[in-house]
Amino acid sequence: MTQSDGPYPIRPIGPEEFDAFRDVDVHAFGGTAMTEGERRLLLPGFEFDRTLAAMDGITPVGTAGAYTFQLSVPGQQMLPAAGVSWVSVLPTHRRRGVLRSLMRRQLADVRDRGEPLAVLWASEAPIYGRYGYGCASWNASFALRRGDGTLAAAAAAWDDGLRLRLRLADPAAVLAELAKIYDAVLPSRPGFFARTEPWWQRLVYDPAEARAAGTSPLRCLLAEDGSGPRGYALYSAVNRWDDAGLPDGELTVRELMSADPAAGAALWADLLSRDLTSEFRPHQRPVDDPLLYQLADPRRARPRVSDGLWARITDVPAALAGRRYSCPVDVVIEVRDDLMPQNAGRWLLTTTGSPDDADGTGLAASCAATNAPAHLAVDVTQLGAAYLGGTRLGALAAAGLVAELRPGAVRRLSAAVAWDPAPWCPMIF
Ligand SMILES: CC(C)(COP(=O)(O)OP(=O)(O)OC[C@H]1O[C@@H](n2cnc3c(N)ncnc32)[C@H](O)[C@@H]1OP(=O)(O)O)[C@@H](O)C(=O)NCCC(=O)NCCS
Repeated sequence: MTQSDGPYPIRPIGPEEFDAFRDVDVHAFGGTAMTEGERRLLLPGFEFDRTLAAMDGITPVGTAGAYTFQLSVPGQQMLPAAGVSWVSVLPTHRRRGVLRSLMRRQLADVRDRGEPLAVLWASEAPIYGRYGYGCASWNASFALRRGDGTLAAAAAAWDDGLRLRLRLADPAAVLAELAKIYDAVLPSRPGFFARTEPWWQRLVYDPAEARAAGTSPLRCLLAEDGSGPRGYALYSAVNRWDDAGLPDGELTVRELMSADPAAGAALWADLLSRDLTSEFRPHQRPVDDPLLYQLADPRRARPRVSDGLWARITDVPAALAGRRYSCPVDVVIEVRDDLMPQNAGRWLLTTTGSPDDADGTGLAASCAATNAPAHLAVDVTQLGAAYLGGTRLGALAAAGLVAELRPGAVRRLSAAVAWDPAPWCPMIF
């Protein structure tokens, strides 16, 4: 099927066109040609029927793809979502509307598949707002020096009392154990997607030729007790010495996941006190990382925050009814959506059930079209930003991006949509 609503016809690619498709990405990102190892890694999870290529004759000049995700959203709900990736346009074909045509076509496909949400990582933050994506989660990275990683007495004592054991393992050999821990965290943390085997392979992918000089292979540290594994850390180390002969090693944490606070404290306490190490670099962490509250001196984590997952609502009633809410709300929202007119209009969002939230997963809600007067007006971009509960609608209103039409409506909806814990996507796709 082709469609010519842009400068070039768009169609999915077949397996024989994978290299040409990937070449667009390589040129656009200034990357290197794909190795055989990368090809073997990427192909099993690649969904050819979800690719879109803008074709100049027989040559793809613009690309977009998507992964079929089950995404965790507030209230322990899993929602079908498109994980958008592979977005690129050849340098020779930029700024002619190729991206615009790909985005339009892809969003229509996502909705047709019954996915109320699309999510992505943006290479540059200004690109995707115009297509209705809002920044829905934030990521923190930390940089600690030797001695900075002392945990507060409470966190350390907690750990002792629970008799956790630490074990080093080859990451590839313990994937089933890692998956058990991840799956235990998944429902409660908005922004996680259910990981299938190809994603686990990608997480531990660590070819020697891709390591920076002097970097160790990827290591795995497991925290466990009699009932099994309760947390893991994937990390690599650099063995370095300065001119005076002093140790100057570096430890980079690729992923640390714990099913409970004690397991997290045990893993951090070990990693952040490693001998011969002067720099500790945990990346891709949640902004509400328990570590920040377990450290004796959180300032020494030197947190840096940047945009994480971007979310685009493709079906407003399905998305709004597909998650839970923190407190009761009954509000008419006027949604503006220039790209997907089905979303535009007034929607009545009403929570149901008892406000005492007996099962701890928040309040369910219904969402239906209405002719009643709106209490607030919002662009679909801002609704996407707020959707996972991490970007406050109140803050967006303070920035002039949400219009309050009835006093108090923003505060009420903002409180209902906000969620604990903060959304976090630990993996770039
Ligand atoms: C980003 C990229 C896909 C844009 O493709 P393109 O075909 O040149 O984009 P279009 O011509 O369709 O432009 C669409 C709009 O996006 C804007 N835009 C494009 N690239 C942008 C960028 N890097 N930053 C900010 N805005 C950008 C254009 O100005 C245009 O704005 P308008 O609709 O207000 O006129 C392309 O430049 C590219 O491949 N970049 C490198 C790889 C990359 O970053 N990919 C994104 C992965 S998340």
